[in-house]
Amino acid sequence: MKRNSSKHGTRSPIQNATFDLNEFLASSTAAVNDALDDFLPSATTRPTTIHRAMRYSLFAGGKRIRPALCLAAAAACGGTQAGALPLACAVECIHTYSLIHDDLPAMDNDDYRRGKLTNHKVFGEGIAILAGDALLTQAFEIAAQAAKPPRFSHLDMILELARASGSLHLIAGQVADLEGEGRKLSQEQLRYIHERKTSALLSCSVRLGGMSANCSAAHLQALTTFGRNVGLAFQVIDDILDVTQTSAQLGKTAGKDTRAKKATYPAIVGLAESRRIAERLTRKAFDALKPFRGRAPALEALAQHLLGRKS
Ligand code: IPE
Ligand code: IPE
Ligand code: MG
Ligand code: MG
Ligand code: MG
Repeated sequence: MKRNSSKHGTRSPIQNATFDLNEFLASSTAAVNDALDDFLPSATTRPTTIHRAMRYSLFAGGKRIRPALCLAAAAACGGTQAGALPLACAVECIHTYSLIHDDLPAMDNDDYRRGKLTNHKVFGEGIAILAGDALLTQAFEIAAQAAKPPRFSHLDMILELARASGSLHLIAGQVADLEGEGRKLSQEQLRYIHERKTSALLSCSVRLGGMSANCSAAHLQALTTFGRNVGLAFQVIDDILDVTQTSAQLGKTAGKDTRAKKATYPAIVGLAESRRIAERLTRKAFDALKPFRGRAPALEALAQHLLGRKS
């Protein structure tokens, strides 16, 4: 299965002469890939099976949106790419672990991810479970190596990651997602799922970027609201794309949500209303950036880009 060649989707109106999102995404992705390669044990490190499996999914060609959000938030708060990079990598490890487990037969039972066979299809279920476990643990090891900004401790940053991925957030969302299969959920129940399974880690990504840049309390609050809204919009769009795109475009099997009787926005409110909801959430995300007084161009461009993405 081949991925769509238009790597970063359509150009958004915000990609004007003053900010080039494609350039930002290309450079943040390259920096994150290099740093991940350095942080992870090599594929020849014993036990080689687990390191090959971890690297297989991590370097399968994800969009690296969470790391980009982390780096963009750091830039908005006057920080550097180098300062935010370990946290950006930590978030991507958690995200990739969540995808490996999400694809398992006991969960969404998917055969393709990031344009390739899923981890369990290549390495078997046992190793796929362990590769997920190892990436989750690796995330904390990487985050612990971040430089300490004056206002925040390593404990603050580790707590941030642990909360977003724990049983009150990402896992809570995955539990409710599984338990919601085949049931007719209300919009509130669906929002509960999406806020946890997806939005929590996106919000965590921008918060960690801000923290790495020693952000003020007001900016951290603004990033939280931005991340929550952009994160929710992200999952609404993921639900829409499952209905409207092909497997080749997505790099994962399209139409799976309907077949698995998943609770999704299109299933509950229809496609047109789902799009309106995603637009409304993106507008709210934009509004949240007001305290940055125009100095968060990468975050603005990312929010706009994610609304129009095709994969
Ligand atoms: C997919 O996330 C899972 C969701 C939370 C919707 P992405 O669409 O960011 O997946 P990759 O990282 O590009 O593969
Ligand atoms: C995934 O949601 C959320 C997490 C992995 C935490 P989905 O199940 O909708 O993601 P895809 O569509 O398989 O990428
Ligand atoms: Mg799922
Ligand atoms: Mg899934
Ligand atoms: Mg999905």
